[in-house]
Order: sequence, then C-alpha cells, then structure tokens
Amino acid sequence: MKIEEYLETLPENVLSGEDVQLPKKSFQEIFKFVELGENDIFYHLGCSDETGVQIAKQEFNVKKAIGIDNNQGKIQNAKNHIKEKNVNAEFRCEDIENADLSDATVILFWFTDDKIINKMFEKFENLNDETKIITIWGPLPDCLPDKVNFPYILNKTPFSKAKTMQEQLLAIFGVKCVDFVTAWEFAERYTKSIGSPEIKNDRFLTIIQTLVIWINAKKLGVACGDEIPESIQTYINIMKMHFDIDFEYLLKE
Ligand SMILES: C[S@@+](CC[C@H](N)C(=O)[O-])C[C@H]1O[C@@H](n2cnc3c(N)ncnc32)[C@H](O)[C@@H]1O
Repeated sequence: MKIEEYLETLPENVLSGEDVQLPKKSFQEIFKFVELGENDIFYHLGCSDETGVQIAKQEFNVKKAIGIDNNQGKIQNAKNHIKEKNVNAEFRCEDIENADLSDATVILFWFTDDKIINKMFEKFENLNDETKIITIWGPLPDCLPDKVNFPYILNKTPFSKAKTMQEQLLAIFGVKCVDFVTAWEFAERYTKSIGSPEIKNDRFLTIIQTLVIWINAKKLGVACGDEIPESIQTYINIMKMHFDIDFEYLLKE
C-alpha cells in the first residue's frame, strides 16, 4: 500500500492532531527555547488541556497564561483541573480565528490544517512587533524562521519572507543540502521531542519521517547528489518487504 493509504489506516483524531498533546518535557524544552519569562503573556492555541498553560505559569512565572480551544468539554476540564491545582490561569472556549490575541507576547501554535494556518497567519501578521509564534516541524507559510531547535521553530513578527522553499528548508535544517544523515537526525529529533517517553515503535516512526524528509528534499531539488543514497534505498526496501508500505512511487511523481 502507498504511504498515504497506510496513513489513512491510522486513527483520524491522532492523524489530525485533534487528540494529540505534547508531553510535559516538550513544553519545558519549548519554553526554554523561546526564553519564556515573567514579562510574557502566553497563549496556547488548541490547548486541548491545561498542561502547557500550567507549566508556563508554575515553572516559567509568566505574567498571564491563556489556553484557547473550541472544544467545550476540554476547556471545562482544563478550568476544573487548574482550579483544583490553585493555578491562576485563564481558559477560553472559542475558535482561535476569532480570538483576540492583541496582548500576546508568546503564542504556541501547533496546527496542521492549511486553512486554519493561512487564516491565523494573517492574524499573526497584525500583532505587535517582536511577538513570538512557536510552530512545530515547519515555520509559518513562506517565512524564514527566526530561530530553530528542531522540531521547534520560532517565528517572530514582523515576519521575514523566504524567497524560495529551498531557502526555507535549508534555514530549518541549517545545511546546504539534505543527505541521509541529516534526514535521519531531524526525524529522530522529531520522534524524541513529540513522542511520549514510553513510545515503543519510535524507530519505525523515525524511518518513515526520514524517508518523508529526504523525499521532500529530493522533490525540492535540495537533496545532496543525484543518486538515491544507499541507506534511503535500503529503508524504502525494508518498508516495502516487511511492512508492505510503498514509498518508491513518490520518487517517480
Ligand atoms: C490543533 S491540535 C493541537 C494539538 C496539541 N494539543 C497542541 O498542544 O497544540 C488539536 C486541538 O485544537 C483544538 N482546535 C482545533 N481547531 C480549533 C479552532 N479552530 N479553534 C480552537 N481550537 C481548535 C481541538 O479541539 C484540539 O483540542
């Protein structure tokens, strides 16, 4: 089966990120990366629960912490839990596209839906200068990241535009071209930072991410050399023979 067909076999609420939450350690890594501090007003968009907001308040002493989610049940649970823990933070049940973010200094924005991303990008462009927007895996559309600790990306207003996707990709990976080692290293970073500690099959996930990173780089013309690296070919064969997951057709498109 083609890799897309395989992905369709995965639970929708996981693939869409709808019911995915970052592990505690990731929030701590992200907040250190963006130097979150006591003068900050922090927003967690699509917060799902109180985890991010609680850590921002309790461990990084932000001035104000606000979680926004359009799922009433999730917001009510977050409000109850934060009250039980006696943490002074705010939760709003609203669509982030209608949310007032004008006082934000730091925003965590982990969305994969292009429509939402493009809508929110327009909104972010009108925020105060020096507002920090954290994304994961990739920067905001056509933007050059301000700082990268992959898979965590810092975008800062006013945004600087990338001339090409190649320029954007290389700014993320910090290399002149993407080879097997770079693809593997960044895939592993993603799996380790987003995956929960007890994740069993992270090697399987890292192989899939590595092939996705390298094949995308190849398609964008920023893969090193013209040949398919032996390691990439080996993993394409392993996925085919042992998991019946096909990547080869992507290289022919
Ligand atoms: C986008 S992901 C966020 C993933 C992850 N929880 C995070 O930490 O960023 C899923 C969450 O976003 C919420 N969500 C999806 N679309 C939304 C929207 N337009 N406005 C507000 N929340 C939204 C969902 O209810 C879900 O809890």
